[in-house]
Amino acid sequence: MSKQTLDRILQSQGFGTRKWCAELIADGEVSINGEVVTDSRAAFETSGLQFTLFGETWTYREHVYIALNKPADYECSRKPSHHPGVLSLLPEQFARRDVQPVGRLDHDTTGLLLMSDDGTFIHAQSSPKRHIPKVYVATTHEPVTPQLVAQLLGGVKLHDEPSPLAAVTCHMVDAHQLEIVLEQGKYHQVKRMLAAAGNHCTALHRSQIGNLKLDALGLAEGEWCYLGEAQRALLASD
Ligand code: URA
Repeated sequence: MSKQTLDRILQSQGFGTRKWCAELIADGEVSINGEVVTDSRAAFETSGLQFTLFGETWTYREHVYIALNKPADYECSRKPSHHPGVLSLLPEQFARRDVQPVGRLDHDTTGLLLMSDDGTFIHAQSSPKRHIPKVYVATTHEPVTPQLVAQLLGGVKLHDEPSPLAAVTCHMVDAHQLEIVLEQGKYHQVKRMLAAAGNHCTALHRSQIGNLKLDALGLAEGEWCYLGEAQRALLASD
């Protein structure tokens, strides 16, 4: 249990500097339990706290854990250059509290992207030691053949990688689509593996991380949701 003053609470949630938040409070923009609070130094228990700002109600969160259904033509980099950044799909206070993507999807890759401001979580999810499986559906230019599947399962040599990289599982979905499960997250890994096996990836979608399935979240493209503890627990398991 911890109490904090309202200006610090709003600042911690990404709504601006402490001074700016104190002004919002003094201006009567913030209410708690239906009551406008104008004293920025009033202290509140943060756990479970709900506050309303500009008519929208938010729950205090020490950290945020987010799943985004990433559309194509959004970049995961911090300083996007050719397309808008994925952070532009979230409420603006999240960027201010340093929410960032967990790993990266290419600008043209769609599907499940995790985002958080919890460094420990980001590190754990990105760690190669955890072997967290990630499921991709790749559309291919040339037809999918049993040989292609066998090559991807057996391992293909990529430029700059000391040893061949193999899919954990791989199977044909239809004539031009395969589902491939990887445990590593090397740069352009699916596309490079398909190229090394003599095919070409024309579209890529991430459908699952660990046991967390994008479909189960019911998010339309571009939509996001918070992940609760039970959903985060699915991320770790394989
Ligand atoms: N592999 C790729 O080639 N691109 C991605 O975005 C993710 C995995």
